[in-house]
Amino acid sequence: MGMLGDFRLVLLGDSGVGKSCIVLRFVRGQFDPTSKVTVGASFLSQTIALQDSTTVKFEIWDTAGQERYAALAPLYYRGAAVAVVVYDITSPESFNKAQYWVKELQKHGSPDIVMALVGNKADLQEKRQVPVQNALEYAEKNGMFFIETSAKTADNINQLFQEIAKRLP
Ligand code: GTP
Ligand code: MG
Repeated sequence: MGMLGDFRLVLLGDSGVGKSCIVLRFVRGQFDPTSKVTVGASFLSQTIALQDSTTVKFEIWDTAGQERYAALAPLYYRGAAVAVVVYDITSPESFNKAQYWVKELQKHGSPDIVMALVGNKADLQEKRQVPVQNALEYAEKNGMFFIETSAKTADNINQLFQEIAKRLP
C-alpha cells in the first residue's frame, strides 16, 4: 500500500462545539458525553486508507477553544496542511467564532492550506440555529469544503476525513 504522506491537521473552534469528540470518534470510534474541556492542545494521529488504497497519516492537533488559550492557536495552525474549523449547529455564536478562525487562517496560515468548515451536533436538528444554506454559502465564498457531522451518532465523521484526504496536494 502506497503512502501519500504525513499531514499536520489542526482543529479550531469555540469551546464546547465538539472538536475533541470528533477526534475521539475518528481515531477510537467512541463518544464521550462527559468530555472534558481541552487544556492547551492534545495530539493524536490516525492513518486512513483511500479508495485507491494509498494511505494518509493525519497528525492531529486538537486545540483548546476556551478564550484564554486563543494566543496559543498559531503554534498549532502555523505549518498545518489542513485546518478543520468547527462550529455547533445550535449555536450562532460558535458560527461567528468559526468565521473569526477562518479570517485568522487566511491571514496567517499557509497559503495552500486545505480548510474544512464543520457544523457539528447535527443530531440536534430540533435545536438548529445555523441554517445549512448560510454555512454552505460562507464555505463556498471562502474556498472551503463544508460538511455537517455528529460525533455522537458518528454521522459523516469518516466522510469528513476522506474528503479532506482527497483535497491534499
Ligand atoms: P474545548 O476542548 O473546550 O475547546 O471543547 P471541544 O470543542 O473539544 O468540545 P468537546 O468535544 O469536549 O464536546 C463538548 C460537549 O459537546 C460534550 O459534552 C459532548 O458530549 C458534546 N458533543 C460533542 N459532539 C457532539 C455531537 O455531535 N452531538 C451532541 N449532541 N453532543 C456533542
Ligand atoms: Mg476539546
